[in-house]
Amino acid sequence: MAYYLTTPIYYVNAEPHIGHAYTTVVADALARFHRLLGVETFFLTGTDEHGEKVMEAAREAGLPVREFVDRISALFRQTWDSLDVSYDAFIRTTASEHVQVVQQVLSRVHEAGDIYFGEYGGLYCFGCERFYLERELEGGLCPDHRLAPTYLKEENYFFRMSRYQGWLLDFIADYPDWIRPERYKNEVVAFLKEPLEDLCISRPRRRLEWGIPLPFDERYVTYVWFDALLNYLSGLGYPEGAGFKKFWPGAHHLIAKDILKPHAIYWPTMLRAAGVEPFQHLQVHGYWQMAQGKMSKSLGNVVDPRALAALYGVDQVRYFFLREMVFGLDAQFSEAALTARINADLANDLGNLFARTLSMAFKYRQGVVPPPGVPQAVDKEVAAAAQEMAADFLQYFPALEFPKALARLWEFIGHLNRYIVNCAPWELAKREEEARRLDTVLYHLLEGLRWIAALLKPVMPGSALKMSEQLGLGLALWDHPLTQVLKWGRLLPGGPLKKGPALFPRIEGE
Ligand code: MSP
Repeated sequence: MAYYLTTPIYYVNAEPHIGHAYTTVVADALARFHRLLGVETFFLTGTDEHGEKVMEAAREAGLPVREFVDRISALFRQTWDSLDVSYDAFIRTTASEHVQVVQQVLSRVHEAGDIYFGEYGGLYCFGCERFYLERELEGGLCPDHRLAPTYLKEENYFFRMSRYQGWLLDFIADYPDWIRPERYKNEVVAFLKEPLEDLCISRPRRRLEWGIPLPFDERYVTYVWFDALLNYLSGLGYPEGAGFKKFWPGAHHLIAKDILKPHAIYWPTMLRAAGVEPFQHLQVHGYWQMAQGKMSKSLGNVVDPRALAALYGVDQVRYFFLREMVFGLDAQFSEAALTARINADLANDLGNLFARTLSMAFKYRQGVVPPPGVPQAVDKEVAAAAQEMAADFLQYFPALEFPKALARLWEFIGHLNRYIVNCAPWELAKREEEARRLDTVLYHLLEGLRWIAALLKPVMPGSALKMSEQLGLGLALWDHPLTQVLKWGRLLPGGPLKKGPALFPRIEGE
C-alpha cells in the first residue's frame, strides 16, 4: 500500500523552533525510510495561516496580513529545506485549492444535517481559539496559556460531533494501535468516557475577518480546526485527485501531544460525517522541554533550528533528535546533550570506524575493495551481527522506536570497532602470508560500513551519501529496495574507494 505521512501544519504567528523541527525531521526520516523500502510515499507539510492569532502577529509586525503570512510561511519552507527535509508538497491554508475543499466539505456536512445553527455560551480561550469545559481547565486557567478564559455567548454553527461518539469509541476498540503510543489512546478513551459535546465550528466575521467564509452563511468564517485539519485531504487533491485515491488509504498523521484532541476526536468524526474513511494511524510524540521548562517566546528560550544546524551540522541535529527522544515521551533539550552525542556517537564511534577502515584500505590495498577469502568464525560473526542488527532496525524504525533502532546500529558499530582490535589488521599487514586474511578483514569492515551507510540514509541523508561516496558507491547504493541492498556481500571487490574529509568533526570546548 502507498504511504502517506503528514506533519501538523504550523501556525505562522511565530517562527519555526526545534519543536516544529523535531516533528518535521521525524516525518522526513519516516518518509525517506519508506521510500528506501520501495514504498510509494507522499509526505505533506505546510502552514496554518488563518485565525485571530495570526492576525494579531501581523499587526504586531506592522505588516498587512497577507504579506506577513507569505513571509513566515516561506521561512518554514526555508527551514525545512535547510534541514534536508524531503517533503513532497507544502500546503498553505490560504491557497485557493484548500479554501475550495474546506467549503465543499462544509457544504456536504451541512446538507447532511450534521451542521446546525445555535447559541452557545461558554469559557473561551482566545489563545487557543476555542471553548473550554470547566473540567478541562487547570485551576480555572487554560492549561496551555495559563490565562483565565473569557465567558462568551454568541450564535454560531455547530458540528454534530456528539453523534459520532459511539462510533469513535467502537473504532478505537477495534483498532487498538490506531492512536499510538498507547498512553495517548488511553487519554482519548478516558476523555470519551464523558459525553462528547458538539463542536462550535464558526466565528462571526465581525470578530474574525481572517478565515474561510462558510459557504452557507457569509456572516461567518470557519473555526481554525475545521479549516486546518482538512489540509490533509486538500493536500492530496481531494475529492477527485489521483493522489487522494492512491495515498489516503495509507494515511499516517504525526503530531505532538498538544493537539491530540483535535486529531483524535474532531478529525475522525469530521471524516466520518464527510463520508471519508478514517486515517491509518495517529502517531503522537511528547514535548521537548528546556532547562527552564516550556519553550516560549516570553521566556526567551526558543531555539532556532537553522542556527543549531549551522553551528553543529544538519545531520548532527537530525541524529540527535531521533536518538535522544523516546517517541511519545518528553525529553530535555540542551546543547550540552547535543554536543555529547556528537562527540561520543558520531565523531568517536562512527567517524573513527569509518576513517580507520578507509585509511587502512588505502594504506594496505591502494584504496581498492579487496576480495574476501574464506571467512573465519570472527568474520562470520560480523555478517551475522549485521543481519541481526538490520532485522531489528527494520522493525523498530517504522514502529517509531528510533532510539532503539539507532542503539542497535551503534551496537554493530561497536562490534566492528572490536573486530578491528581483535583482528589487528596492522599486524596482518606485516606478514606476507596473511595477505588473504587481511583482504578478508578489510572486506568485512567495508561491507559492514556499507550496511551502516544504507541504514543511516533516512536519519542523516547527507552523511550517508558521503559515506557511500567514500565506499565508491554514491547514490547507486540505494538503487534497489533496502531489503535487497541489505544482502551480505553485495560490495564488489575491485571497486575504488574515495578519500574524504572527516565525517563528523569533534565539537571542542565541551
Ligand atoms: N496549526 C496547528 C496544527 C494544525 S494541524 C491540522 C498547530 N500549530 S503549531 O504551530 O502550534 O504546531 C504544533 C506542533 O508543533 C506540535 O504538535 C508539534 O508537532 C510541534 N511542537 C511545538 N512545540 C513543540 C515542542 N516543544 N516539542 C515537540 N514538538 C513541538 O498546533
